[in-house]
Amino acid sequence: MPLKWKIILINLFEKRIFVHYYLLLLKKDFMRKKIIAGNWKMNKTLPEAILLVNEICQELKARPELINIKDLEIVLAPPFVYLNECYKLIHEFPNVFVASQNCYPEESGAFTGEVSVNMIKSVGAKYIIIGHSERRSYFKEDYLFLARKVLAALKHDMKPIFCIGEVLNEREASQHFEVIRTQLQESLFQLNVVDFEQVIIAYEPVWAIGTGRTASPQQAQEMHAYIRSLIAEKYGDETSQNISLLYGGSCNAQNARELFSMPDVDGGLIGGASLKVQDFITIIESVI
Ligand code: PGA
Repeated sequence: MPLKWKIILINLFEKRIFVHYYLLLLKKDFMRKKIIAGNWKMNKTLPEAILLVNEICQELKARPELINIKDLEIVLAPPFVYLNECYKLIHEFPNVFVASQNCYPEESGAFTGEVSVNMIKSVGAKYIIIGHSERRSYFKEDYLFLARKVLAALKHDMKPIFCIGEVLNEREASQHFEVIRTQLQESLFQLNVVDFEQVIIAYEPVWAIGTGRTASPQQAQEMHAYIRSLIAEKYGDETSQNISLLYGGSCNAQNARELFSMPDVDGGLIGGASLKVQDFITIIESVI
């Protein structure tokens, strides 16, 4: 079904019309990229990490169509300690990059155990995941701290993948839209438009992360459309259309295609399934 009709049907289904859809209906070309990012979390030893990246590289080499797509980026986020090794293995691919899973917002100094943006950049990473729900909940990272991390990343021309998402109680109490609005307003909407356009947003409902309970494609689309409408309100329609919005939370080889077929879902932040080569490749294939 053509994208245009899909959008019309979804709008009728939700009885909502968002201004930015008019732009889509006018067939305007938008700049946003499709992105599949694998968040390895705290998994793998160095030999295992090298093996996984080598296997991914082999699979990609066998599918040149995946490495020659202009608007597709593949991102691997191993633990800090393997970033440089992983970078060396992937850097010959034009659209494969490495990301760190976190950063510290200060430049340098007496912050034992922390890793600055400049350090991350120096080992070859291009992206930084910021605000993952595990950081928010286990490490008590608040809005202001996350906003500082985003600024630090942008200062060094790194691309933040900024995670937002509601917990189960909030969804059950129908507070999910409000939660997302606050998370955006308090950490990202302080940015000027030029900086904001460098950010990738990952909507990850916390109840779906690692639980095997995925948001339905309609739930993902509804929230992504809402996020885009908030961005349009703050920064204008064009900016809202240029931002890549990823879905994360039990996205796997079976459900990826349906999720990515939604007009406002531009790819995924993949946890568990990114550790399995064939599943990860299938997920990449599902976004094109
Ligand atoms: P999951 O994790 O795919 O294992 O649910 C996603 C994430 O935490 O980014």
